[in-house]
Amino acid sequence: MCGIVGYVGRPGAPGAAAEGGPAVVLEGLRRLEYRGYDSAGIAVVTGDGVAVRKRAGKLANLVELLDADPLPDTGTAIGHTRWATHGGPTDANAHPHVDAAGRVAVIHNGIVENFAALRAELTEAGVEFTSETDTEVVAHLLGAQYRLTPDLTEAMRAVCARLEGAFTLLAVHADAPGTIVGARRNSPLVVGLGEGANYLGSDVAAFIAHTREALELGQDQVVTITPDEVRVVGFDGTPAQGRRFHVDWDASAAEKGGFPSFMAKEIHDQPQAIADTLLGRTDAAGRLQLDEMKITEAELRSIDKIVVIACGTAAYAGQVAKYAIEHWCRIPVEVELAHEFRYRDPVVSERTLVVAISQSGETMDTIMAVRHAREQGAKVLAICNTNGSTIPRESDAALYTHAGPEIAVASTKAFLAQITACYLLGLYLAQLRGNKFADEVAEVLAQLHEVPGQVRQVLDGLEQVREIARSMADTRSVLFLGRHVGYPVAMEGALKLKELAYIHAEGFAAGELKHGPIALVEPGQPVFVVVPSPRGRDSLHAKVVSNIQEVRARGARTLVIAEQGDTDVEPYADVVIRVPRTSTLLSPLLAVVPLQVFACELATAKGLDVDQPRNLAKSVTVE
Ligand code: M6R
Repeated sequence: MCGIVGYVGRPGAPGAAAEGGPAVVLEGLRRLEYRGYDSAGIAVVTGDGVAVRKRAGKLANLVELLDADPLPDTGTAIGHTRWATHGGPTDANAHPHVDAAGRVAVIHNGIVENFAALRAELTEAGVEFTSETDTEVVAHLLGAQYRLTPDLTEAMRAVCARLEGAFTLLAVHADAPGTIVGARRNSPLVVGLGEGANYLGSDVAAFIAHTREALELGQDQVVTITPDEVRVVGFDGTPAQGRRFHVDWDASAAEKGGFPSFMAKEIHDQPQAIADTLLGRTDAAGRLQLDEMKITEAELRSIDKIVVIACGTAAYAGQVAKYAIEHWCRIPVEVELAHEFRYRDPVVSERTLVVAISQSGETMDTIMAVRHAREQGAKVLAICNTNGSTIPRESDAALYTHAGPEIAVASTKAFLAQITACYLLGLYLAQLRGNKFADEVAEVLAQLHEVPGQVRQVLDGLEQVREIARSMADTRSVLFLGRHVGYPVAMEGALKLKELAYIHAEGFAAGELKHGPIALVEPGQPVFVVVPSPRGRDSLHAKVVSNIQEVRARGARTLVIAEQGDTDVEPYADVVIRVPRTSTLLSPLLAVVPLQVFACELATAKGLDVDQPRNLAKSVTVE
């Protein structure tokens, strides 16, 4: 949940940043602020110790502090942007934390689960704590260990052996200028490789302005970086190699590009995200191929059940997948929140394909569910947007979405890319298992290739939605209804509004309305209704039109998302928002876009920060 950056550079080296360590780290923190933004801090190694500046609140507060009280411009710096777990967001709880002698500085992402016992032990030994965090325990342990074994890598290994839980740690020591030591267990850390400079980051965005060459670390490893060397060892001391990879996007992809917010930019990136996710998926004969599919065809033919595990928006992508895959492949698909799956006793076997969907690839709930599924013998396929992240690395196969970096905390383009990847998976399985003829698969693929242009059309015609959103800034509650694939769209519309505008919002299956939720409807209640195509199964469309009438009869203000040419909805809609025609199964890619724009515009009208909503962090790396 926190963002971590480290930089060591030899001044004047070809790949070293022209700026000093604090400036490089601050720039990295700006790009990682989406991971947590309740406090931030930087530590540098100086000639006679470590110097720290840290401040509660957003990064801007730290910048103000650094302007007033700059750090020395050294070539060794670490920085942190925090999402609080242990201890509230105060100056004292902000990272870095130092040991009592002020010789070691530590930053941390994750939770040290046995921190209470360790803190009691240290207190008993006379250590005085200055914060409520679990991280400070590590700083004191590391300081003490270094006095015994004056080698930061070895000291880190010894300390990690005492820690339980999930953590990424970076440490610098006054006696080791030009060195940063990192460690990871169940929490992300990647190395950026430069010439005469090396970097560490929670993700590649931390150093993308300086290098696109990166090294992925494995589980339970310690990495030591100097300007000219990167050394990796396991917690047990065994030398290890990371996997080198090239980042296929550049710093400009992580900028706002003229949009007022990352959220607005990412909504407009969606046609590209879908197009890029579809790119290069067919062979010369037009047959669908998924390169990263490392599960054998025989295994895929033998599966008798698919279980999708994910959280939040990614789980709604999974719900869309259920309708498509069951329809195309006739395989039962269950969709389960990863944290619920993990802590019950799910029925999975060697013939179950578990599909883990995650933008970040670092969601701890999903990681734990992946491990659990594999322990039960299931094959796991990851649908993920982040190369080198934990979930694809720990899965049997990966299908990457190519949405580019998603910085805004609320997910938009990753959602559309996830749905697209799920369609590809469904069509691939249908082709492989013989549920569909090649020309049928090709027909759906052709429709899919039209979707980016259709999303562009939706985006070009949303002034009406923006105006409605601005006029609803005082609204206290909004309901969203949908059936079939419109149901997850309704839930996603509600989630976007909750996250961004802090408005009470609920998404319901329209058929469930009469079983309770309709009691919420009173005169003036805004209700969005996602209407399926009238060209699809007739009964479905007619049923939703009836649902619109039911809420309208009770005074609701109906905001209806319907296909172009669907005149049936007009008598019952206060507002009709049009989307282009496509097949019912593909329609979520279009229908959700007005709901994203509505939430973004309404939150903006309320003066809220749409990129960094309160209480949230982009990637939930604790359970
Ligand atoms: O990185 P992941 O896709 O695994 O994240 C899953 C959820 O935490 C994420 O979708 C969350 O619900 C977003 N804030 C939704 O906008």
